[in-house]
Amino acid sequence: MIRSLIRGTGSALPARVMTNAELAAEVETSDEWIVERTGIRQRHIAGEGETTATLAAAAAREALAAAGIAAEDIDLIVLATATPDHTFPSSATQVQALLGCKPGGVAFDVAAVCSGFLYALTTADALLRTGTGTKALVIGAEVFSRLLDWEDRGTCVLFGDGAGAVVLCSEDVAESGPGILASRLHADGAHKDLLFVDGGPGTTGTVGKLRMKGREVFRHAVVNLSEVLNEVLADAGLAAGDLDWIVPHQANARILDATARKLGIAPERVVVTVDRHANTSAASVPLALDAAVRDGRIKPGDLVMLEAMGGGFTWGAALARM
Ligand code: ACO
Repeated sequence: MIRSLIRGTGSALPARVMTNAELAAEVETSDEWIVERTGIRQRHIAGEGETTATLAAAAAREALAAAGIAAEDIDLIVLATATPDHTFPSSATQVQALLGCKPGGVAFDVAAVCSGFLYALTTADALLRTGTGTKALVIGAEVFSRLLDWEDRGTCVLFGDGAGAVVLCSEDVAESGPGILASRLHADGAHKDLLFVDGGPGTTGTVGKLRMKGREVFRHAVVNLSEVLNEVLADAGLAAGDLDWIVPHQANARILDATARKLGIAPERVVVTVDRHANTSAASVPLALDAAVRDGRIKPGDLVMLEAMGGGFTWGAALARM
């Protein structure tokens, strides 16, 4: 059967690290409050010249090197971001040019905020399996620091910048073989006011800042994520106990703990990077995946569940055998 296989992973993080102590010097907060409520200890913040496209291209180069695939062999780029460098052209086409991919391939952005990588992965998987080329780059890249209201302690402590990428290749494999086994996506536009940016790009003529009712988002996140994880497990005919790893969107350590507990997944099976990266929106899942692949936790043959929930609301999960 034709499946999409994760052949390589990569990351890019801005050089500048901002600690909780630095934030506490600017807004009324403390390292203790941030660590206790979120698990976040630091975040990376993009500097001059670092943009969604440059971070995405850097992560993609690492993923291509890990896969042993040349940029000119890439047929498809799907880039998830809520912070494109421009209203248009898409950041995906900028990455295509930065990497030197062959002209004429397919490249586009998807916008699903923190679940963007799940939306991008599921879209790329479907396109590969229906013949839009055989080799894809799937990227999550964000520069949320430029959307934050740095005077709002309820949001500015939570986010960071970065990019993660995977090389996805369609191959003919045995049913017991590797590849994406199942995935599900959802959206519910009724909850816009709980998490949104109060401005552009687009028709408002303003730039806007991120606004969030954190407690409400938290409540929806745990319920939606548990449901979608169970759906994907049921689609694949598997149980939570069969998973080797869960690679969740890194929003808050307490959301990770609560979701894992609800599903009966041991905490040591959950990949956690929120302490180092904070919430990097669409970049968080591929950044966490890459961290666990590179440090040797995730190995070939492992059953890995990816999941995320974000503004919209949007949410989704995908199950892959590595
Ligand atoms: N430092 C110190 N105090 C703070 C801070 C801060 N950075 N932020 C808020 N507070 C205060 C509030 O003002 C409030 O004070 P009050 O009681 O005097 O009014 C108090 O702390 C409690 O505020 P809550 O918002 O109720 O705190 P809560 O325990 O819910 O934690 C948090 C807030 C961390 C935002 C939590 O609700 C959360 O993580 N929600 C999930 C949101 C999220 O992760 N969104 C990311 C995008 S969506 C996604 O990725 C799933």
